[in-house]
Amino acid sequence: MMGVFNKYPALPDAFNLFLAQSKKMSNNPLQFFRIGILPLLLAHSGLAWSDSAAKEVVIPAPARQAELLNLVRQDCGSCHGLRFEGGLGVPLTPAALKGKSPDALRNTILYGRNDTTMPPWNPFLTGAEADWIVKMLMKGLP
Ligand code: HEC
Repeated sequence: MMGVFNKYPALPDAFNLFLAQSKKMSNNPLQFFRIGILPLLLAHSGLAWSDSAAKEVVIPAPARQAELLNLVRQDCGSCHGLRFEGGLGVPLTPAALKGKSPDALRNTILYGRNDTTMPPWNPFLTGAEADWIVKMLMKGLP
């Protein structure tokens, strides 16, 4: 964890910002409204509440793909293991991620997990890039 903070001095700030935001969100009644209404909307439109309701994932430009794969191998690999088989972080192999919600995984990448060493990466990644990383991890990195 400290290694990550040394490497990215902005991380502690981003983390505090995230904590402040999540406190604000839990006081926001709209948040609960949205969570409550979502299954209704899905049911109404005939969509199954399922991970296979696949959304389009934007493919980054080749140069950015190379940067992102490098980040995932170096930075994510430092906790999740060289082959993503786990270490300080949980395994991120296709087998380990099978059946998990891509959106939930993406949110973990962007916002981190409270009370764990999983840091938020949103200072370095867009939402679309996090979606792509999830897609790559789920199918196995090239
Ligand atoms: C400082 C260590 C650390 C680094 C660096 C790190 N992670 Fe994590 N990550 C964790 C830990 C610990 C967890 C498990 C959190 C928990 O217990 O819920 C986790 C959880 C996750 C999960 C959720 C897995 C699941 O099965 O729910 C994903 C996805 C993930 N990390 C992706 C990444 C990606 C992508 C990167 C790099 C951009 C990254 N992590 C970098 C420590 C780290």
